[in-house]
Amino acid sequence: MSNARTSEYPIDKQFLDRWSPRAFSDRPVTEQQVLTVLEAARWAPSASNLQPWRFFYGVRGEPEFDTLLSLLVPFNEGWAKNAGALIFITSVTSFDGSRQNITHSFDAGSAFMSLALQAHAMGLIAHGMAGIEFEKVPVVLKLPENLKVEAAVAIGYQGDVSTLSESLQKREVPSQRQPLAEMVFKGHFTGEIKAPS
Ligand SMILES: Cc1cc2nc3c(=O)[nH]c(=O)nc-3n(C[C@H](O)[C@H](O)[C@H](O)COP(=O)(O)O)c2cc1C
Repeated sequence: MSNARTSEYPIDKQFLDRWSPRAFSDRPVTEQQVLTVLEAARWAPSASNLQPWRFFYGVRGEPEFDTLLSLLVPFNEGWAKNAGALIFITSVTSFDGSRQNITHSFDAGSAFMSLALQAHAMGLIAHGMAGIEFEKVPVVLKLPENLKVEAAVAIGYQGDVSTLSESLQKREVPSQRQPLAEMVFKGHFTGEIKAPS
């Protein structure tokens, strides 16, 4: 996969080559592949090695997939229905009913990136989603109080852009990033916080 991304400093090419397409081919993804990307996620670092991530998955064609698909907002459901598999990432907010785990979301984010890079290394695409029906998920997935829904991920083989709606076809290109100088400070903060244009 090649794209127009360039880095300001020399980095491993996987960081530029990974991106989040929405067009999936109908080539199936096996349970073995899903468990392999989740294996990579398992090895993510976490505060005190608490490993607060808990994953839920479904492979297209099986009932769990349809259940997870129904928990996405309509916009995401529209394209993610063609994914080979769906994964929901949740994290443990406190263990043993008391100790608050303040880094649960940060740790789950690390697990997501490991998953995404492993998928990329396997020739798969992974697309994160926060467009989820958040209030429905705990009910449908029977989550205990201390499991927070973080994000969903669609994985699969990249498909032809023509399978997408016209508006999504226009967006099916690797995005760029703000300059490093806008996000890195040597010493105290300078400048102002601006959303990327
Ligand atoms: C936590 C998270 C939530 C996201 N939510 C959505 C979403 O609901 N729908 C969507 O189409 N893309 C979603 N994305 C994809 C981002 O828009 C995408 O990662 C970002 O534009 C950077 O592009 P890249 O992943 O291709 O580098 C999400 C990504 C992340 C990490």
